[in-house]
Amino acid sequence: PDDRSTLTLHVNGTERTLTLDNRTTVLDALREHLGLTGAKKGCDHGQCGACTVLVDGRRANSCLLLAVAQDGARLTTVEGLAEGERLHPLQAAFLERDALQCGYCTPGQLCSAVGMLGEAQDGHPSHATPRAALAGQGPAPLGADEIRERMSGNLCRCGAYPHIVQAIEDVAP
Ligand code: FES
Ligand code: FES
Repeated sequence: PDDRSTLTLHVNGTERTLTLDNRTTVLDALREHLGLTGAKKGCDHGQCGACTVLVDGRRANSCLLLAVAQDGARLTTVEGLAEGERLHPLQAAFLERDALQCGYCTPGQLCSAVGMLGEAQDGHPSHATPRAALAGQGPAPLGADEIRERMSGNLCRCGAYPHIVQAIEDVAP
């Protein structure tokens, strides 16, 4: 049987058509086949978050996704966060707050934080207080504890967590 498939991914706004072994993960498709090495391979097992990208606007561990199953998806990687020369506000905040040391976890932290803030804006159930939800108000502001909880899938071996949380707080609603 043919163990290769042809698929299309929309990566950072560009349509890319690839023919890949069916076992290729999205992470390997990005890194090995598209030359986008921002997403990192930390554990390759869904445990560290270094490979986090946005898939149709939602954060996902790209090491756990088979590329063939994402045919037609829209992916955003850390390379796609800035608009031309203008950094994404979270990238600027990470710089401002010194929220990285070796930087290995940073692309995943950034993509995860972008996705997380999107979830917060959606009024994710764990975020909207019941009273605010009843009153039809928006979600409560994100505090440091909530940010830590929501970012707990992204590990940092350098222990830059306090600065990462500060940077996200700067941008969070
Ligand atoms: Fe994907 Fe660690 S490399 S979660
Ligand atoms: Fe080194 Fe996070 S900055 S792993």
